[in-house]
Amino acid sequence: MGSWETTHSIDIPSTVSQRRRASIPVYETHLGSAYCGDSLSLLRTKPLLAHQGKIQLAFTSPPFPLNTKKSYGNLQGEDYIRWLAKYAPLLRKMATDDGSIVIEIGNAWLPGEPVMSTHVLEAFLRFLKKGDLHLCQEFIWYNPARLPSPIEWVNRERIRVKDAFTRIWWMSPTTRPKADNRRVLREYSPSMKRLIATGKYNAGRRPSEHQIGKESFRVDNGGAIPANVGGADALPSLDGTITPKRFAEYLEQSTNLLKAANTVSSDSYRNFCVERGVPVHPARMPPSLVNFFVKFLTDEGDTVLDPFAGSNTTGAIAESLGRRWVSIEADWTYAAHSIARFDPEAVSTTAKDLRITMLQPVENQHSCERVLAQAATASSSSDAIPLVTS
Ligand SMILES: C[S@@+](CC[C@H](N)C(=O)[O-])C[C@H]1O[C@@H](n2cnc3c(N)ncnc32)[C@H](O)[C@@H]1O
Repeated sequence: MGSWETTHSIDIPSTVSQRRRASIPVYETHLGSAYCGDSLSLLRTKPLLAHQGKIQLAFTSPPFPLNTKKSYGNLQGEDYIRWLAKYAPLLRKMATDDGSIVIEIGNAWLPGEPVMSTHVLEAFLRFLKKGDLHLCQEFIWYNPARLPSPIEWVNRERIRVKDAFTRIWWMSPTTRPKADNRRVLREYSPSMKRLIATGKYNAGRRPSEHQIGKESFRVDNGGAIPANVGGADALPSLDGTITPKRFAEYLEQSTNLLKAANTVSSDSYRNFCVERGVPVHPARMPPSLVNFFVKFLTDEGDTVLDPFAGSNTTGAIAESLGRRWVSIEADWTYAAHSIARFDPEAVSTTAKDLRITMLQPVENQHSCERVLAQAATASSSSDAIPLVTS
């Protein structure tokens, strides 16, 4: 495996050339392509239309209808709802017959008032309707590590509590998209493990009316079926069935798990940006969230699309799981620097803007063969810039 700055270096211009064609990927691997441009337009161009009917999962986190504008900009109110809905028929056409469209959006608040905006919910509903899609399931992504917000109402006036979740809608053209929860089983809780080991529990009818059979909990199914509340996995509620001390321990464990998952896969990208003095994407998705849906809804070899790719967390996770991927990001800096999420040995570029240089051979690898193969692929295109090796 290579590493940026050690085995390979890359020149990324700070601004993109006016003449640059958005339909040429910024970079590619043998599993995917990263494009830079407006996805609403790009999804109607030839290279993207080639994927029509073949996308098993469109997984994305579009810009939120925020009141305070983020650096990458976003629409508000009815404009936002109408804009997002335009993507619904496009993504539906892109999807396979049993494909899924999964969208994550955080909460929005009305300006100057401690009141939530319903635009996110309206946007979801309009999207569903415009795409003639089914809502397969709604998920909540809980992030206990999130900073208190909206700061005005939570920290200053203390009249609201911390907003700590985002909403995820899993949609599909069919009521039965491809899905298998056996691929995303969670580790059994210590008490469940004990129960399976000893086989001792009280069978019979529970106050909830559920009938618990004598064999119900004896079988080890390899893990627990996850709930549609993700993030802090298996977080129990402080309802008297657990001590505050144990609750705090669970919270700590879950938060650390989440943090660990985020840190590991994002480090290379973050360090790469910091070292180059370019902005790190401010709204990166937790890799564990992408990982969950890619595993749950696709098989190896399937294609995953992210039309609002940002730092390309989706592409990187798809690649690591052996899925094909296509990503589109409007901002040049985010799109180009997301290359740092990939092994330099695995990427190539035919874009004239980027120049990858091999600094030293990667030990124990057939790197020369791979580089030559990449250069050969690159030179077969009219826009090719072969990799420079030294
Ligand atoms: C919430 S962020 C996505 C973050 C991403 N999931 C990650 O992990 O880095 C939304 C992204 O959509 C991009 N964007 C906004 N409008 C776009 C458009 N019309 N076409 C493509 N990308 C767009 C923004 O630049 C921003 O990077």
